[in-house]
Amino acid sequence: MIGLNNGRTEQYDSSEYDREREVQAFDDSKAGVKGLVDGGVTRLPRIFLHNQYVAEMKSDSEIVTKFSIPVIDFEGLGKSAVQRADIVRGIKNACEKWGFFQVVHHEIPSIVMEKVIEDVRHFHEQDSEVKKEFYSRDVTRKFSYNSNFDLHKTRAANWRDTVSLVVAPNPPDPREMAEVCRDVLIKYAEYVMKLGDTLFELLSEALGLNLNHLKDMECAKGLVLAGHYYPTCPEPDLTLGLSSHTDGGFLTILLQDQVGGLQVFHENRWLDVPFLPGALIVNIGDLMQLITNDKFKSIHHRVLATNAGPRISVASLFIMNFQEGSGSGLYGPIKELLSEESPPVYRETSRKEYVTYLYCKGLDGTSLSTHFKLQK
Ligand code: OGA
Ligand code: NI
Repeated sequence: MIGLNNGRTEQYDSSEYDREREVQAFDDSKAGVKGLVDGGVTRLPRIFLHNQYVAEMKSDSEIVTKFSIPVIDFEGLGKSAVQRADIVRGIKNACEKWGFFQVVHHEIPSIVMEKVIEDVRHFHEQDSEVKKEFYSRDVTRKFSYNSNFDLHKTRAANWRDTVSLVVAPNPPDPREMAEVCRDVLIKYAEYVMKLGDTLFELLSEALGLNLNHLKDMECAKGLVLAGHYYPTCPEPDLTLGLSSHTDGGFLTILLQDQVGGLQVFHENRWLDVPFLPGALIVNIGDLMQLITNDKFKSIHHRVLATNAGPRISVASLFIMNFQEGSGSGLYGPIKELLSEESPPVYRETSRKEYVTYLYCKGLDGTSLSTHFKLQK
């Protein structure tokens, strides 16, 4: 049996390990993982060590290269009813079987996608004194950056820093945002809101509902952008860029660069999500699984650490954020999707309860929907 921490126990006397203190010191640096790399780190600090299973579970991606998440072409969307029906069918199949798909020929220009990746990189690579001003764990701040939003809860930190922006329903004053990336984030967010509308219409149709059903439930109302920066990792087999998790919101639109490392858990194995130029990755979140009464699946995914980094990605999460989560809205399985054969699997939850739960749990690998499942 391999020892904990991949045989790294020889270097660390665990009796002297005060994790809390090391986590705090890392947090206090306000420099993130990028700061460690800039400081010339060649071995992972203990707080980033995941157990040996990281390396063991990795190999699947090398064996299984043929399977991949479905690719859906939006080219024919506005052209004819037949082509639209085809797209709706493709989406239905993807959401039921994979919980993930890639979209090509959506309306977000490549130049905007390239620029958003570039400027998120600029944010993370700017002068660290300027960047530090934005370092915060205050969930009421609308523009901030930190490393590992769940740093103080998790057992193993991830090799990643993130800049985030609450876009909707109430965006911050642009003056609260970092200059290096604000213009493109605002522009990109406008495109994402439009694409989100289209996607929620298509998802409604795929569920056999009225075109506006999901939008009327305010699924498209809350949007948060997360600009991830996965620095080059000196020991990528000992940690992860992002631990296995499901997304908490309704839907996520992900833009990734060409570095790679994103994997989805499908039929008991991890599959790579290859970089497809110009494509956006779309995935179902836990709250969508809940309101669709398990028709659409919220699937575990993760990001491997890489020694070919940095890797940059921008996740657009349709989700209720903390401030806006205190309204009285209730979410439960959509009535039109229930029948005798398909009784409700979940109980209703209020926005406030849901958002509080989401922020408290961190990336512990469990699905939110499990928490709201009705007892059989
Ligand atoms: C996320 C996520 C994947 C990536 O932000 O929830 O899964 O490639 N991101 O960064
Ligand atoms: Ni995710």
